Amino acid sequence: MTKKLASIILAAGKGTRMKSSLPKVLHEMGGLPLLQYPLEIVQNIKSDPIIIVVGHGSEIVKQRFKKNPKIHYALQKEQLGSAHAVMCAQQALKNFEGDVVILSGDVPLLSLQTVEGLLEFHRQKQNVLSLASFRLRKPTGYGRVIRDLAGEVIKIVEETDLSLEEKSVEEVNGGLYIARLPLLFKALKKINLNPIKKEYYFTDLPQVLHQMGYRIGALQVEDSTELSGVNTRLDLAQAEKYLQKRLYTHWMLAGVSFINPDNTHLHSKVKIGFDTILSPAVHLLGNTQIGKKCIIEEGAVLKDSWVGDGVMIRSYSHLEKCKVEAGAVVGPFARIRPESLIKKNAHVGNFVELKKSTLGEGSKANHLSYLGDAVIGKEVNIGAGTITCNYDGKKKHKTKIESGVFIGSDTQLVAPVKIGKNAYVGAGSTITKNIPAQALALSRVTQKHIAGYSKRKKK
Ligand code: UD1
Ligand code: MG
Repeated sequence: MTKKLASIILAAGKGTRMKSSLPKVLHEMGGLPLLQYPLEIVQNIKSDPIIIVVGHGSEIVKQRFKKNPKIHYALQKEQLGSAHAVMCAQQALKNFEGDVVILSGDVPLLSLQTVEGLLEFHRQKQNVLSLASFRLRKPTGYGRVIRDLAGEVIKIVEETDLSLEEKSVEEVNGGLYIARLPLLFKALKKINLNPIKKEYYFTDLPQVLHQMGYRIGALQVEDSTELSGVNTRLDLAQAEKYLQKRLYTHWMLAGVSFINPDNTHLHSKVKIGFDTILSPAVHLLGNTQIGKKCIIEEGAVLKDSWVGDGVMIRSYSHLEKCKVEAGAVVGPFARIRPESLIKKNAHVGNFVELKKSTLGEGSKANHLSYLGDAVIGKEVNIGAGTITCNYDGKKKHKTKIESGVFIGSDTQLVAPVKIGKNAYVGAGSTITKNIPAQALALSRVTQKHIAGYSKRKKK
């Protein structure tokens, strides 16, 4: 029998302590909004439906995740506490019978294994409510898990309501729950307003269920960092640091070398082939994919880019939404802008900018150039200081350079223009007309000499 599983992600809180106009769950870690992390977990455990309880900034949150049809939103208009937030999902789950995983939108480090472990525990023990707990020497701020002499969980007590005796309890509530439906909603109705915080605490649920005669289980997790929530920008930076460590550990074990791992920045979705070496201060961002045996030198930034095998990206190059094929060399100090394609074994050198351009196999643009809206064939040599003049103030125009062409230094190619196969352009030319294949084009003025000029000038 397949067991039905739903999920609720609580994301209605304002995140006051972030001091931000952006809803907390949209702040980013590893290049993704915080909410994306619990969302991927509940998708991985194949829960359906997934309900996100939104409140503050609900429209912006929905906008960010609207592409996903499995997600339903429940609006919590007023933030009356975590129990109230869960109640807001009732309508979306009204005919649902099975288990529901409840997690927070601001706990991004939680691992799939922990949730799967809790699910197994929950099913094996046949609990009506299971929660993840962990031990803390200084548990201040967390809800404490209170057990009876037999070790059964009887309640959770929040910081504000602790008795002297309960203050020393080191087992705390991690805020990850699995509950049985529809029993959950029946029990939630019995929760009273907390007189101190004027909120309905979800954590009053264990006591309610215990009094109803049901069984509650708490599973202690080893790694408490996983359950730490992000409340301030300091927490966010710490979570990011932890994530970075997790990411570089993963990639090092997959055969990638990091010269200084703590000084490299990776986004969660990045992929890297083995025997690739990453220097310090390299940033691999967005959906970047790096092939095998590449060398990425210090300070290189690659965003949403695809890099083939054996590529060398030299220091301080900036690449965005582009493709670099096997064996190519880019930089140092190159800028490769979106929709550019650098084909096999091509070279792009220092202070060269490419935009929406293709540089053909084995072609070279090694120094000080701007190549925009250009299609460049194989084995072309682009001389130093070559500029495609692609913009006439209104429109962008294309430059086509066929295979085997030699463009002399300091050339301007005024687009639209086409340079035929194996043609030559003399240095210092301004090319405004198409050049036939094999031809030499020169457009500079003829050099003349005025004899004795400097002597006369001095007099
Ligand atoms: C909560 C638990 C505490 C646990 C800790 C672990 C309660 C009452 N306490 O405390 O036992 O140790 O998490 O991190 O739950 N939310 C809403 N609407 C609301 C209130 C909260 O959506 O009206 C959401 C928040 O956005 C957050 C989650 O519920 O995602 C938890 O609420 P929060 O206020 O952060 O509770 P904590 O003080 O962290
Ligand atoms: Mg919290």
